[in-house]
Amino acid sequence: MHLLKTIGLILTLNFVSLTPALSFSADEAIKLDKNILAEQTNTGGDMTVKRLSTRSFIYAGKGATRKQQLDFWTGFSLFRDPWVTAPSATKDRDGLGPLFNARSCIACHQAGGRAAMSKTGESIPTALIMRLGFTTPEIDHSNNVYGGQIQPRVTKFVDGQQSSPPSAEAWLSLEYTLINGQFADGETYQLQHPKYTLTRLGYGALPEHALPSPRYAPNIFGAGLLDAISDEDLLAQEENKHAIKQGISAKYNRVYNVKSGQMELGRFGFKAKHPTLYQQVAAAFRDDIGITNSYFTDDSCTKQQVLCIQASKLGEHENVEIPDKLLNLVVTFNRLLGVPPARNLSKPQQQSGQLIFHQLGCQQCHTPSYITDKNYPVAALAKQKIWPYTDLALHDMGEGLADGVYEYQATGSEWRTPPLWGIGLQKKITGHQRFLHDGRARSINEAILWHGGEAADAQHKYTQLTKVQRQALLTFLKSI
Ligand code: HEC
Ligand code: HEC
Repeated sequence: MHLLKTIGLILTLNFVSLTPALSFSADEAIKLDKNILAEQTNTGGDMTVKRLSTRSFIYAGKGATRKQQLDFWTGFSLFRDPWVTAPSATKDRDGLGPLFNARSCIACHQAGGRAAMSKTGESIPTALIMRLGFTTPEIDHSNNVYGGQIQPRVTKFVDGQQSSPPSAEAWLSLEYTLINGQFADGETYQLQHPKYTLTRLGYGALPEHALPSPRYAPNIFGAGLLDAISDEDLLAQEENKHAIKQGISAKYNRVYNVKSGQMELGRFGFKAKHPTLYQQVAAAFRDDIGITNSYFTDDSCTKQQVLCIQASKLGEHENVEIPDKLLNLVVTFNRLLGVPPARNLSKPQQQSGQLIFHQLGCQQCHTPSYITDKNYPVAALAKQKIWPYTDLALHDMGEGLADGVYEYQATGSEWRTPPLWGIGLQKKITGHQRFLHDGRARSINEAILWHGGEAADAQHKYTQLTKVQRQALLTFLKSI
């Protein structure tokens, strides 16, 4: 166990009041960690949930006021209940489609986590969205009849409303090839490499240079706290000299803010395409459910999808399908969604695992901790010490994980580091667990083994660990 003896631990426990580069023995490290253990257990600061649930991630953080709790649960009902085709008797909930991926947010974000992955073979996917992207940023997209996202579903029409409804865009065929590998200690493992084919294309062949980009619905708890990290604290990580020396560079996406008209730092989505939680939620309504709003006023029909445009005009909405008053409630729900507390971090195995996490350099991208912006407009989320384990930056993760498509500054092999808080609870809460942007990994172990590119060194070091060390690291990851 030489790893656990003397280690040069670089504390990217960022913005915690510690000297940046310390070198100390394992004993000291454990003592030091004990000092911050209580904080570390309280993953979301005041926005940690009060009691750990085994049934759902959906609880407001304990810092929410009574009024906020009420708004949270009203917002939740708009997140949970299915939207219906307009016109209908329930005007507050109609406007679905014409093209859409699912009828409700919760269909993909089951219990605030990740709904079941698509099965192999051909299917109409739900929680696995196929976005459509291009292999270089310069391509002219105007002839892309499908738009930026494949919607496999279309609203049905009552007789007499419209003679020919638009076609759904495509179905998905998913196949895996198995890859065999071996740890240094001889233990074998198997990974599954996915292949995606769009089938039953409703509008002809895909445009040239267009590729499907798979996105498996992520966990959404704690997103309000990620929204509340200051730009300065993120950007400071671009200059982390130690990481750069190791071949790791935190690159932030610069994306369009629909409301301000400015290019801003990207935070949400697997390639950090949206700058704010508000815009992310508004985009989900329009892109995934077909509900127009003040951020995205047109349904996702391209100009060539004439029947879609015709169908989008049915219904009695004067303006947008979800008014700001209701959209605000869904954003409030998302902001206040609490984070589950960490478990058992004082136990020896978790403590060893934490040291290994730092020893392998995982924290260079999975930044453990922040203090959120003191000026964040929702007081309950401001100035909180949080433990999300992400830098929210883009990293080149190698060919194995590449989708080949651009999103603003993000290249075909770059992905945003996802937060790791709560990932160990997925199986218990949703009844299944899959990891990574496309849900290919069946376990945390597989997710680590897929790391390449800038994370190749960390991945290699992981394969060199003994079984006991690997178990310690995995136990730590399941506890945070
Ligand atoms: C059809 C499945 C689906 C539906 C329906 C859906 N989402 Fe998502 N959600 C996703 C996927 C996939 C992503 C990642 C998108 C990307 O990378 O472009 C995502 C991303 C998010 C994120 C960003 C999380 C992060 O850390 O980046 C939030 C927040 C979110 N969704 C909230 C919602 C809300 C609120 C609704 C309902 C209005 C909704 N989603 C509806 C699949 C879905
Ligand atoms: C160079 C930056 C970088 C380093 C170093 C790194 N990661 Fe990651 N990690 C990422 C990115 C980016 C993803 C998302 C990749 C994807 O979805 O395709 C990810 C995904 C993960 C996931 C899956 C999370 C989920 O919810 O799907 C786990 C678990 C994980 N990393 C653990 C680790 C561990 C443990 C280490 C150290 C051995 C490590 N990472 C090192 C950037 C990094």
